[in-house]
Amino acid sequence: MTQTQATKDSIQKTCIAPVNIAVIKYWGKRDTELILPTNSSLSVTLDTADLHTRTTVHVSPEFDGDKFWLNGVEEALNKRMKTVLNEARSRRRELENSAPRESSVHGKPISEWSVHIASMNNFPTAAGLASSASGLACLASTLAYVYGLIDEKNEMAIQRSWTSVSQLARIGSGSACRSIFGGFVEWVMGGSSDGSDSMAVQVAPKAHWPEMRALILVANDEKKEVSSTSGMQTTVETSTLFKHRLREVVDTRTEEIKDAIKNKDFAKFAEITMLDSNQFHSVCLDTYPPIFYLNATSKLIIRFVHLFNEALGRIALCYTFDAGPNAVLYFIEKDFELVSGTIACMLEEVPGIDSPQVKKIFSGDIPVQSNEIADSMRGKMRKIPPGGVKRIISTRVGDGPQLVSESLLDQSGYPILK
Ligand code: DP6
Repeated sequence: MTQTQATKDSIQKTCIAPVNIAVIKYWGKRDTELILPTNSSLSVTLDTADLHTRTTVHVSPEFDGDKFWLNGVEEALNKRMKTVLNEARSRRRELENSAPRESSVHGKPISEWSVHIASMNNFPTAAGLASSASGLACLASTLAYVYGLIDEKNEMAIQRSWTSVSQLARIGSGSACRSIFGGFVEWVMGGSSDGSDSMAVQVAPKAHWPEMRALILVANDEKKEVSSTSGMQTTVETSTLFKHRLREVVDTRTEEIKDAIKNKDFAKFAEITMLDSNQFHSVCLDTYPPIFYLNATSKLIIRFVHLFNEALGRIALCYTFDAGPNAVLYFIEKDFELVSGTIACMLEEVPGIDSPQVKKIFSGDIPVQSNEIADSMRGKMRKIPPGGVKRIISTRVGDGPQLVSESLLDQSGYPILK
């Protein structure tokens, strides 16, 4: 099977795209239509081997309308997807207008063909992980390949194309623009009102700091949360702490964490990550009415991380929380066993674990030092009660979207049933 499946009258491509987790949080829009943020943000792209969205796009002049299947079930295209699709089509139209003869097959230009889109996450929606970033980044990347929006002339042209794909993803969901690049990625807020300078930029590739690892502790989340999209606008309208964050804090922090990444200074990286997560949740609490994303388990995890670092005498672990109670813990490869072992000591019940490496530690291979650290925590925090953490996902820093051969639609553009 080739990566591009096309008959003479159809084009089909499939991509996978990663999840990213911000260490400097995006929270607030200055333009809700174009999705232009009130501050720059910065994230770590996670490995697609562990978490990804897969999307197949098939365009054909034979189709009589746009269709979408999520996890094999047909759904209507939502507003965000339509925004991305319309913009991708209009970029395609520009290409066709500049080279009219090449692009017209069957008398109808490709930009006018209907699309069939199928998408699937390799992580359960029930895991409570935000899938909009990987989902819309995957849609934008796959459409970019289908419509020939990646200019492969030379390195510079390719780079420019991907920057533009990040802007295509951004208009679907802000954080999605950062999933267009691997490694460590900044979403530069820009200043212009048309969004032309608001884009993702790679700060460092995965190869710069491949030792960066993450454990995602999926916390039980029964409460209905306020969506990021609506929550952040209430913050913009009501929080005074938010104004302080924009004026005094976030730019300096972004520069400092970029330096920490360049110098591979984990302690500095970790400290800024925790400070920014804490400030983001403080800003949520300062929103009127207040927004609570952290639950009792999240708070125990925060306490755990600080006690862990204190017992160790160095900052070896940090946490960050998005718009929900799940913790993402970052640390360096060499501390993997120590971190996992100490977490194992502090959970009353073994949660679902995907990684064999973590499973091994949980099933008794606990380092002596983990036991010592856990002992030192006794009396300072209680263990995380059963059900508090329902699943642990182990992953690391990863690459950006990739073209792949395993597609979700068959040669005629309909879902492959498994
Ligand atoms: C807390 O990107 O989901 O995860 O632009 O409205 O789609 P929209 O919001 P979204 O917000 C993400 C907020 C966050 C922080 C972050 O990822 O930077």
